[in-house]
Amino acid sequence: MPLTGLESKDLIMIIFGGKGGVGKTSCSVACAIGLAEKFKTLVISTDPAHSVSDSLCQHIGFRLQTVQKVMNLTAIEISADKAFQQFKEEHENELIKLFDTSTNFDAEDIQQMMSLSIPGIDEVMSFKIIIDLIEENNYEKYVVDTAPTGHALRLLSSPELLDEWIKMAAKMRWKYRYMIESFSGDYKEDEADVMLLNLKKTVKRIAALFSSRQKCEFIPVCIPEDMAIMETERLLKELQHFKITSRQMIMNNVMESDESGFCRQRKAAQSKYILKAADVFKQLQVVTVPVFPEEIKGVLALMKLKEVLFDR
Ligand SMILES: Nc1ncnc2c1ncn2[C@@H]1O[C@H](COP(=O)(O)OP(=O)(O)OP(=O)(O)O)[C@@H](O)[C@H]1O
Ligand SMILES: [Mg+2]
Repeated sequence: MPLTGLESKDLIMIIFGGKGGVGKTSCSVACAIGLAEKFKTLVISTDPAHSVSDSLCQHIGFRLQTVQKVMNLTAIEISADKAFQQFKEEHENELIKLFDTSTNFDAEDIQQMMSLSIPGIDEVMSFKIIIDLIEENNYEKYVVDTAPTGHALRLLSSPELLDEWIKMAAKMRWKYRYMIESFSGDYKEDEADVMLLNLKKTVKRIAALFSSRQKCEFIPVCIPEDMAIMETERLLKELQHFKITSRQMIMNNVMESDESGFCRQRKAAQSKYILKAADVFKQLQVVTVPVFPEEIKGVLALMKLKEVLFDR
């Protein structure tokens, strides 16, 4: 059974996730290659290890980069650190104003605050870049490759963390506003208020996208091994919290050949877990991907994986 429903016009964001090393990057890039046959597609890496470059055998990096040898496909590797750095540079005045007017900090304290990371902000800035790219509307499909489970969950929970931070900052602002109003009776919104408001909008936009069944889908990638199944099960439970839909999963590295004793043994060991997965993930359609004789590296190899994923 191939991947289904990804060509639906409304579905714009497809996120791949799962345990380390199970084939997330290979599957997300191959899926993006398949979608690029019909849609203008952007593949986005949010993994600090940035293996999309390695998978495609092309340097991508933190800017939109046309993928060679694939029509209609662009890629970007988002660096959370750089995304946050960029945000700080763009909003330096607003952040200084926020700390300056809302706290009793002196200039040195403020500089120190500026160099500290706000919880979840690195990840949320990665997502802000994704949501901004989606709203620029230059592509029809956005395929997101994530780092292994823990990091992906941090990424997905980052809007909530940022929301907490915004609430705290807004509270400080209200106190400041109250003070100004009591003294002068007149308070005008300043750039720090606008920045908080915009951040709040970003958080809402991300949450709305996550929870839209039509627009966003998460595809877990798993392999027929007990630990991978258990981790995927936990991941799917956590995903419910973010209201992200999963309709199908990829079972990768499945041994099909029984030409040698080794293959037969491997196949027998896997079949137990394939049955277990069918039971644990019964609400999901399972897309089976065989283990390839060689590493999946470069566009040609990814095309072969694409053929399996889309059955074409
Ligand atoms: N079906 C397959 N057959 C053979 N090799 C595969 C298959 N799927 C993935 N691989 C290989 O397994 C390795 C890991 O794959 P990949 O990088 O896609 O995993 P990942 O889940 O993204 O890893 P990470 O958690 O490190 O990001 C790569 O060398 C890839 O070429
Ligand atoms: Mg990867």
